[in-house]
Amino acid sequence: MGGGAEVKAEDLIAAARGAAQHSWSPYSKYAVGAALLFDDGAIVTGTNIENASYGLALCAETVAVAKAMGEGRRGGLIGVAVVGPEDKGDGAPITPCGRCRQVLNEIAQLGNTDPRILCVGSEEVREVKLSTLLPHAFGPAHLD
Ligand code: THU
Repeated sequence: MGGGAEVKAEDLIAAARGAAQHSWSPYSKYAVGAALLFDDGAIVTGTNIENASYGLALCAETVAVAKAMGEGRRGGLIGVAVVGPEDKGDGAPITPCGRCRQVLNEIAQLGNTDPRILCVGSEEVREVKLSTLLPHAFGPAHLD
């Protein structure tokens, strides 16, 4: 991945896959795992957590960011892997939803990084910068 104490893309993807095993997604049956890589080599994972009140579902990326910020992290995000179920969709890579892009942007902007997002599909892994997924992002700097 570059930086991050030499954590490899495959390792980050494996961490996201592992997180998806803990998904609570009985309503959509769409288990998602996310793994955040920080510049000190730490990996923080998250998985989607749904609710009987369907609209309250929390996405994997948002859960991962909440875990990381809840542990005190305020930047240093250099990589993200997102993995969905292999048996759903057309094999195209999953990409973070709009809300998750904004949530990821908060911790990225706090540390002035533009993390690489590894969007994992059954056919390919698409790598894209957060700034490409969320151009002209509104962030904490706007409020200074
Ligand atoms: N989901 C995520 O966890 N991340 C995304 O970026 C897209 C969608 C979850 C939310 C819901 O639990 C399920 O996938 C189906 O939308």
